[in-house]
Amino acid sequence: SVEGTVGSLTGSVSTLEKLSETDPELLAKYSKVYFLSEHFTPPQLSAVDPLYLYYEWRPESIDAREWPFVRNMLDAAHADGEKLWVVSGYRSFDKQADLKSRYTVQYGSGANTFAADQGYSEHQLGTAADFITSGLGGELEGFENTSTYQWMRQNAYRYGFTLSYPQNNAYYIFEPWHWRFVGIELATYLHNTGKQFYDLEQRDIDKYLVNLFD
Ligand code: DAL
Ligand code: ZN
Repeated sequence: SVEGTVGSLTGSVSTLEKLSETDPELLAKYSKVYFLSEHFTPPQLSAVDPLYLYYEWRPESIDAREWPFVRNMLDAAHADGEKLWVVSGYRSFDKQADLKSRYTVQYGSGANTFAADQGYSEHQLGTAADFITSGLGGELEGFENTSTYQWMRQNAYRYGFTLSYPQNNAYYIFEPWHWRFVGIELATYLHNTGKQFYDLEQRDIDKYLVNLFD
C-alpha cells in the first residue's frame, strides 16, 4: 500500500539521518588496534555537574548526547546507597599525550599496561569514563572489591555502559573503573550473553550504531 511504502520510506530516512549524525568512531575498537585521528573531538560536550564528580573542583566533560544516561546511572546508584562518582571523562589528544608521558616518567614502560598512547584512548571519544567510589582515597585500584563496582556490574548496561578492560583482556590490566558507553541495546546484548565488546567483530558492533543514543 501507499501508506505502507511511505511509512517504510520515512523509517529509512530517519535511520539514515540518525546514522549520518552518529560518528562510526564511537563504536570502533581502539586499544592498540585502531588509531583515532588527532583531530577527533566530540561534536558537543557537557560539563559533568560537580555534584557527580569525585573531585568537585576538577572539571570533567562527557559527550552531550550521553550525559543524560550518565546522570541517570549516577542517580540510580546513589538511590541504591552507592557512592558512584565520575573521576575522568573526555580527554583530548593532547591531554592524553600529557598524561601518558607523566605516567611513563613515573612507571617506565609499565605505563603501557594501563595508559593508552594519545590517539588510542577511548577517553578521546568523549563516551568513556572512569568511575570510582568513596572510601578508597581517590584510588582507582581496589574498586573491584566494592559494592559500588558490583552495582555497576549488575546495572551499568541499563544505562548503555560496558566494561572495556575486564580480567585477562588482550590490551591492558583489569580496569574495573573504566566503562565505555556503547548504547543500551549493545550493552544489554553484552550483559545478557557475557560477551566482551572487544571480542565482537567490528561489523557486528556497527549494527548498533544507529540506536546508540536511544
Ligand atoms: N586507561 C585506558 C587504557 C586509557 O588510557 O584509555
Ligand atoms: Zn579510563
